Amino acid sequence: MHSTRVVAVLTLVVGLAHCFPWDIVVGGDKQLHFYYNGTLTHTEEIPSATRITSVTYDPVHYRVLFTDVNYPNMTIYSFDLSTRKTQSLLTKKTDHKYVRVVYDPVTQLLVWKIRRNIYTFSINPASSDKAVDGNLLVTMDNYCRDIAVDSCGGYIYWITEANIERARLDGSEREVIVDSTVYLRFSLAIDQLTQRIYWIDSIYLNGGYELSIKSANFNGKNQTTIYISKTTSYEYASSLAISKDFIYWQNLNEVGTWQLPKDSSEHVARKLYSISSLRDYDYHRVATNYTIQEQIEAIQSCEALQNLIPNNLKPEPTASICQNYCLEGNCSVAEEGPTCSCKAGYSGERCEVSACHKHCLNGGVCSLNKEVEPVCQCTAGYDGERCEYSICNEYCLQGNCSVDVDGLPKCSCKTGYSGERCEINACHDYCLHDGICSLNEENKRVCQCTAGYDGERCDISICNEYCVQGNCSVGADGLLKCSCTTGYSGVRCEENACHKYCLNGGVCSLNEEDEPACQCTAGYDGGRCEVSANKDSSCDAGNSGQGSISACHQFCLNNGVCSLNEASEPVCQCTADYEGERCEVSVNKDLCCPKVTTVTVTLSQGGQSTCASTVV
Ligand SMILES: *[C@@H]1O[C@H](CO)[C@@H](O)[C@H](O)[C@H]1NC(C)=O
Ligand SMILES: *[C@@H]1O[C@H](CO)[C@@H](O)[C@H](O)[C@H]1NC(C)=O
Ligand SMILES: *[C@@H]1O[C@H](CO)[C@@H](O)[C@H](O)[C@H]1NC(C)=O
Ligand SMILES: *[C@@H]1O[C@H](CO)[C@@H](O)[C@H](O)[C@H]1NC(C)=O
Ligand SMILES: *[C@@H]1O[C@H](CO)[C@@H](O)[C@H](O)[C@H]1NC(C)=O
Ligand SMILES: *[C@@H]1O[C@H](CO)[C@@H](O)[C@H](O)[C@H]1NC(C)=O
Ligand SMILES: *[C@@H]1O[C@H](CO)[C@@H](O)[C@H](O)[C@H]1NC(C)=O
Repeated sequence: MHSTRVVAVLTLVVGLAHCFPWDIVVGGDKQLHFYYNGTLTHTEEIPSATRITSVTYDPVHYRVLFTDVNYPNMTIYSFDLSTRKTQSLLTKKTDHKYVRVVYDPVTQLLVWKIRRNIYTFSINPASSDKAVDGNLLVTMDNYCRDIAVDSCGGYIYWITEANIERARLDGSEREVIVDSTVYLRFSLAIDQLTQRIYWIDSIYLNGGYELSIKSANFNGKNQTTIYISKTTSYEYASSLAISKDFIYWQNLNEVGTWQLPKDSSEHVARKLYSISSLRDYDYHRVATNYTIQEQIEAIQSCEALQNLIPNNLKPEPTASICQNYCLEGNCSVAEEGPTCSCKAGYSGERCEVSACHKHCLNGGVCSLNKEVEPVCQCTAGYDGERCEYSICNEYCLQGNCSVDVDGLPKCSCKTGYSGERCEINACHDYCLHDGICSLNEENKRVCQCTAGYDGERCDISICNEYCVQGNCSVGADGLLKCSCTTGYSGVRCEENACHKYCLNGGVCSLNEEDEPACQCTAGYDGGRCEVSANKDSSCDAGNSGQGSISACHQFCLNNGVCSLNEASEPVCQCTADYEGERCEVSVNKDLCCPKVTTVTVTLSQGGQSTCASTVV
């Protein structure tokens, strides 16, 4: 049975195309250094790494898992020894450099510690764990130095300055197993083969320093000291790691990686090689090639790990090469290595590129429909097949656009504009009658009116109601002018032609030719009702017709008083300024052109008429 296992392991080595021997792997800044019996056998450059701070080995999937600190992020990577491919498993923000990762192949949990906290994250592809930032497993009072997993028992162990504790992988059954604050504690490891925990202590004693490697049962009982190193200077050791036959650690004073047989056959540690420099936070950078078979060889019941060994004890190289290689598809092994046949909607060498990749723009969420085509669900404010169209695009004509709570575009208009889309110019239609609009310093609208208009919006016609009966216009001199309708006159056409036209109570109206015409009251006659129709009037004497106009009528001019003589002829008695038969001659030489404008005929109470003419 034993020889069968050896054959199986040899078959595996032959099956791995890119194999190099190694018993420990040590993290560098950006490299993984593989050593065999103290000799460097391979250096793997990890281009995406910055500073590798901790390394662990997954013997089930033949991969080295390691943390890299690239402020402000911490990334956990896996380097697959079969395919030589590096894959980022998780990136988490942290300002802390002293991160440490271990792995439980049974539950496929990544377990890491930062400061006083331990987190877990499942990398089982079947897991529904979506907490990419990790699940907080435990928090402790003291600074956590190191962690280790007991895959058979299902425990996580941790070491602080104060003690060593353990809990179940779900955080339950937490208990202190080694309790002493005397020592400075550095690193912790677990060995299934010996069923023991190992740790490093340091103490100041008798004027010097004592570094020791100790061991105890899983429950903390039966403590023994395996190794002691006494120095006068402070000693600092880390990176405790266990293999089938050896214990390894790194010493930060005598810089290098050290090795000691596990069985205490030797008490002097062997320095495998020196490291040129090691920083204090390069803490957990040694991992061993410790196979599952080796780990559980001597123990009676560790079904959990036993189940991880393939039935025939002969790991199928193709199976391991393909394991987890294709992210969304089937894997097969070709000459040049693993090859993926991707399922619909995925592409890329490892089927890592979804058809959804970068498909939806502007934060749209992508999913594949029944026809395996990418479909976008856009965020508020975006539209289009790929959410490429912003609903704000060209929406606000004169202003900025934003998306409101209902996902609708909303404009914030620039000064002088309004309306839902800022489409309304404040000046638009503001000034009436061709007035010119502009904004003043306070962004208020101001109108410059055309001639004839006034008011804030040029809404007031200054002609308005100026001309009483006629059309108004503004002259070049800016003054108003009236053009009167027929029958009216005056500067503002305020005078009716009928005004004071008919005398003696006559009613005036305009005839068809828009001339004034009088309708006289009884007893009067004439164009303006100026003639008394009374035949008994003394003015009747000398009339030129029967019952008609008196001979005195309009006979004496310039206020001369008319009377009939014996022969019934009109005779004038002139005023001092006039003379002549009809008082037509001005005595005053300065008055050259007297004008007769009105002749008034009045009827006395006794029916006698008096005629008078006036000079204006
Ligand atoms: C890992 O260790 C096993 C067991 O000691 C050994 O057979 C194997 O060759 C080692 N792997 C490599 C790649 O050196
Ligand atoms: C490992 O290296 C040491 C020192 O170089 C050497 O004595 C020993 O034989 C080597 N062991 C194996 C198995 O190669
Ligand atoms: C840190 O991680 C975030 C999120 O994954 C990423 O966007 C950013 O580029 C990373 N920064 C560095 C320095 O790696
Ligand atoms: C205590 O540990 C030592 C060394 O590992 C071992 O030889 C011994 O049998 C253990 N004793 C008990 C009581 O477990
Ligand atoms: C992957 O393999 C399964 C099982 O053989 C098969 O049903 C499926 O069609 C394959 N998918 C692809 C993309 O080849
Ligand atoms: C529009 O956006 C620009 C740039 O953010 C800003 O300077 C401007 O004041 C905004 N205008 C309005 C009317 O909100
Ligand atoms: C007044 O204006 C109206 C309309 O333009 C015109 O028909 C009318 O003849 C005008 N009247 C006068 C007196 O100019």
